[in-house]
Amino acid sequence: MRVTQEPLLRKFWYCVMPMSALGDKPVGMKLLGEPIVLWKDATGAPRAVKDRCLHRTAKLSLGTVEHGNIVCPYHGWAFDGGGHCVKVPQDVVEKPHPFGVPGYRCAERYNHVWVALEDPYYDIPEIPEFGMPGYRQVIEFCDDWGCAPLRIMENAFDNAHFAFVHKGSFGDTDPIPPPFTLEDTADGFIMRTEVPVRNPEGMRDAIGIASDRTVRRTANRFFTPFFRAGKITYPNGLENILCTAATPMGENLTRFVQWVIRNDTEEQVPAEKVIAFDKRVSLEDRDVLESTDENVPLDAGEGRELHMVCDKPGITMRKKIRDILRAAPRTSAA
Ligand code: FES
Ligand code: CO
Repeated sequence: MRVTQEPLLRKFWYCVMPMSALGDKPVGMKLLGEPIVLWKDATGAPRAVKDRCLHRTAKLSLGTVEHGNIVCPYHGWAFDGGGHCVKVPQDVVEKPHPFGVPGYRCAERYNHVWVALEDPYYDIPEIPEFGMPGYRQVIEFCDDWGCAPLRIMENAFDNAHFAFVHKGSFGDTDPIPPPFTLEDTADGFIMRTEVPVRNPEGMRDAIGIASDRTVRRTANRFFTPFFRAGKITYPNGLENILCTAATPMGENLTRFVQWVIRNDTEEQVPAEKVIAFDKRVSLEDRDVLESTDENVPLDAGEGRELHMVCDKPGITMRKKIRDILRAAPRTSAA
């Protein structure tokens, strides 16, 4: 699978950045190879349209935001959040102007900006603990990694890499991961398991447990195609829900967006300690993931990779994605 060559991947919501990254200026990025520009409209809501002016193709992201519209830097044409052209300074005759640039679905959820290039198959993933009394959010990362999004997703359900990639942090020495179950959901699956881990300095601070070792009881939920919400429950009652988006920007370029939802307080564990430990772990993953091939085979014959028995979550992801991408294109009513 090459993400820019799969048109049906346009029909999902992707988390593109924290709301805090959207200030007064427009922000440009690529999503599935398509240049998009994001900004906040007059109500403060995020908006997204194609980052290419229909007059002479200048990047709208180099322009300005005026009255909630985006204004091209080249000749000042203005477009609203739906991409409709609302002003041509050189032309006072024809209003409203019956043309525009492609506009995309754009929403704020979980204090982040989400974009769907086309009518999405599924809603934005549901994370019930978000906003519940007793739970807080710690916003962690928004970094661009040089690998395919599915590599990041598979890695988030691969407990066999702990003993190798994370041997310097929390990884146990046993190369065989504990048994797990997979439960199918409408838009993905839930993987449940209990993993004994080391509890080194740095992690102890981040989870509030002082012993050398501990156990992670996990309910790790996969949302097709590239999002997961993984709830880890520790013996002290701490729930740490890792929410990870692997947003496909282009071939071998994926935006790694992550936040955590936890049932403790800033006084118990400061956010900076949570972020510091997760940063260390994610950098261990990043080094090896950026060494993997950008093409993740979905179909037999597309490329050959051998599998372990414990690769079942990743194989299930590939199948779920393949079932959608290889089916006849569906309309939104289907
Ligand atoms: Fe945008 Fe001319 S290129 S207004
Ligand atoms: Co890892």
